[in-house]
Amino acid sequence: MTCAVYGFPEQAEASLRLARSLGAAHFMVEVHSFPDGESLVRVDTSPDTALLYRSLDHPNAKMIEVLLAAAALRDNGAARVIFIVPYLAYMRQDAAFRAGEAVSQRVIGKLLAGSFDALLTLDPHLHRTRSLATVMPDIAAVALSAAPALGEAIDESDDPLLVGPDGEARQWVERIADRKRLEFVLGRKLRVGDREVRLDISDAERARGRKAIVVDDLISTGATLKVAARLLLQAGASSVEVLATHCLASAADLEALRAAGVDRIRATDSVPGAVGILPIAAVLADAIRKQGWCL
Ligand code: R5P
Repeated sequence: MTCAVYGFPEQAEASLRLARSLGAAHFMVEVHSFPDGESLVRVDTSPDTALLYRSLDHPNAKMIEVLLAAAALRDNGAARVIFIVPYLAYMRQDAAFRAGEAVSQRVIGKLLAGSFDALLTLDPHLHRTRSLATVMPDIAAVALSAAPALGEAIDESDDPLLVGPDGEARQWVERIADRKRLEFVLGRKLRVGDREVRLDISDAERARGRKAIVVDDLISTGATLKVAARLLLQAGASSVEVLATHCLASAADLEALRAAGVDRIRATDSVPGAVGILPIAAVLADAIRKQGWCL
């Protein structure tokens, strides 16, 4: 079964890395923006299976183009269109927390399931929903964990303390700590606003005189990590580093994080720009082969 990877301009290097890992052809989706903001997309004729690659940071603009590209691929020969979406947005809002709110996860899940035969992502930001399969029950929806890749980026020889800013981070921190035989602590977080969090790391003193590495799935504004860094440095950590699956933070937010004392910020290349320095192409390619999507 022949397959090809289709990438978008802002993430062309990452989609090309995936195509090379798979030994598959790579094509670009052409995007034209009309003066009023409407998009026109065009694709080259597709082989049997098209792997459409794009992360959904800035999701409102990107989503429409992704749906248009999926339709264009089908119209131009693809029997199967699979969405490779390293960062998948809109997964947090899984309920109406205040009367009248849209349940975004359900809406976006249905839209994607209606356009794609399958979907592959990395650490989707699910809270109360246990698995991606629940969000998109009618298609093969596969979620990978970045924990092994993040763990590979850690040098255990200087015995760093791993820190998860909240209970949700346990799934990454504990897995890496077990594998690398490192100590870890977890904080407790209360989000006060989009850019304001309160954090309590009651075991922070275990960082005294040691490097602390804060591990999380997402750097959004960097607020969580800024507070974590402050607490760890106050507790006597010799340095603080950050390791995350996805980095959505702006250059200014990353600068503020450095100014707060974070020595090193690393994330996978799931999102273009930012700090992506841990390529995940091999991890995605491995999963794609295991699923039999590109043989
Ligand atoms: C929360 O559930 C996530 O795991 C991250 O901790 C959060 O999204 C980070 O957001 P920010 O960088 O804005 O604090």
